[in-house]
Amino acid sequence: MKPPFHTLVTGASMGIGSRIAEDFASKGESLVLVARSRDRLEGIAATLSARHGVEVMVCSEDLGEAGGPGRVFEFCRARGISVDRLVNCAGFSVAGSFLRIAPEELHQMAMVNMVSLAEMVRLFLPGMIARGRGTVVNIASLASFQGVPGMGLYSATKSFVRILTEAINEEVRGSGVRVFAVCPGFIDNDQFYNRSGHDRKRIMVPISAPGVVVRAIRRGLDSGAAVVMPTLFDRLMVFTQRLMPRRVVVMLAGFFAGAGEKKSP
Ligand SMILES: NC(=O)c1ccc[n+]([C@@H]2O[C@H](COP(=O)([O-])OP(=O)(O)OC[C@H]3O[C@@H](n4cnc5c(N)ncnc54)[C@H](OP(=O)(O)O)[C@@H]3O)[C@@H](O)[C@H]2O)c1
Repeated sequence: MKPPFHTLVTGASMGIGSRIAEDFASKGESLVLVARSRDRLEGIAATLSARHGVEVMVCSEDLGEAGGPGRVFEFCRARGISVDRLVNCAGFSVAGSFLRIAPEELHQMAMVNMVSLAEMVRLFLPGMIARGRGTVVNIASLASFQGVPGMGLYSATKSFVRILTEAINEEVRGSGVRVFAVCPGFIDNDQFYNRSGHDRKRIMVPISAPGVVVRAIRRGLDSGAAVVMPTLFDRLMVFTQRLMPRRVVVMLAGFFAGAGEKKSP
């Protein structure tokens, strides 16, 4: 009997990550769901295993803490789980000018969006390479292509994700393992905006359904691309950057994002 295919999704307790988990469960893959909210993860696990007849395990972990990724790796190792697909989706943003970001928020965002993501790849990739199969999907953002005033730190963390992924994609070529990033524009998910204090009414560009990210991952799995843009609009936004001075690109990005200042509490 073939061993089950294991997919680990971080940020699976809500939003885009939970949609990605559902998509892989519908294909019969066993899942490990990672986030902090254990109750939410357990609810999603129960729904997915009842709906799709797959094994779903819950690993409640704070990826903002040093050692978080190591504990996730140990969770899998102790249960004999070889992770065949790693989807790094956990992440968050804080809206408002850079100087309004509290030092703790700055540190937390760097840990979750960058350090933990890189550590997860560092921990799980060697096993995939040894087995000659596997995929790493890193969820970056359209914001990774330029600094976005009002989302400066967030855009910088997502740039880290995209740049690191591009490099690793090349490094693992020929190993049987694929590593790629998905760069969505704004996605319809109030939870994300509420958490970041971003007033979505001020966003001046189309907001897509979470399904576009799921479809972009499917496209990425079928191609050799290092970076996958979910929509035509996303691709156009990146293309038009070549036609404008950099300062105009950055200014327009800030204008379209409308994240300049936090909502009043
Ligand atoms: N929504 C958008 O417009 C958009 C656009 C482009 C890219 N993205 C990216 O897509 C990803 C998912 O975003 P989303 O819209 O689905 O946001 P969301 O609904 O707020 O979900 C974020 C997920 O990350 C998890 N997470 C946050 N901090 C964590 C921590 N310290 N430890 C472990 N897990 C943590 C959350 O779980 P817990 O709170 O339970 O820990 C949750 O499952 C993020 O990387 C985001 O940057 C979003």
